[in-house]
Amino acid sequence: MSLAVYPGSFDPITLGHIDVVARATALFDHVVLGVAHNAAKTGSHLLDIDTRLALARESCAHLPGVEVDTIPGLLADYCVQRGATAIVKGVRNGTDLDAEVPMALLNRDLGAPETVLLVAAPAHAHVSSSLVKDVARHGGDVTAFVPAPVLRALTRAFAGA
Ligand code: PNS
Repeated sequence: MSLAVYPGSFDPITLGHIDVVARATALFDHVVLGVAHNAAKTGSHLLDIDTRLALARESCAHLPGVEVDTIPGLLADYCVQRGATAIVKGVRNGTDLDAEVPMALLNRDLGAPETVLLVAAPAHAHVSSSLVKDVARHGGDVTAFVPAPVLRALTRAFAGA
C-alpha cells in the first residue's frame, strides 16, 4: 500500500491545501496530512496545534483515504515510522520551489522517502495561510479561500480585533 505524508503548519488549512491533498489521493492509496508542531515557528502561530488539527480533520472529512495526524518532531522520522512511500508538497510558484528543493534533499539525507511536488491549481496559486490571516485580521472576506470551519475559527480568533 502506498502512503504519502503531506506536511505543513496548516495555520490554518486553506482550500489550496485541500486541493493538494485531494489530488494526492489520486496518486497514493493513503495520504496523511501531517500538522507539524514546527518548533521554528512556535509562538508565531495564530492557532494552537489542537485547533489546527481539529480544523484540518473537519475540512478533510469528505475525502476518503485522507488521515489527519500530528508530526511531533522531524518529518523524516515520522515518515520512517509510518513506512511512507513519499512526501507530498504543493508548489505555487518559483519561491515555493526554491524553498522545497533544499528541504527535499535534506529530508532524503535524514532517511525520508522522495518528495513529490504537486503544482498548485491556478485558482489557488495566490492563496496562502499568511495572506488569509492578514485579510481576516483586517476584517476582509476570506470565504473563497478557506473551508467553512476555518472561516468560523478565523471570525472567532479576530472577533473584536
Ligand atoms: O506549512 P509550512 O510552515 O511551510 O510547513 C513547513 C514544514 C512543517 C513542512 C517543515 O517545517 C517541517 O517539515 N517541519 C517538521 C520538522 C522537520 O522535519 N524539519 C526539517 C525539514 S527539512
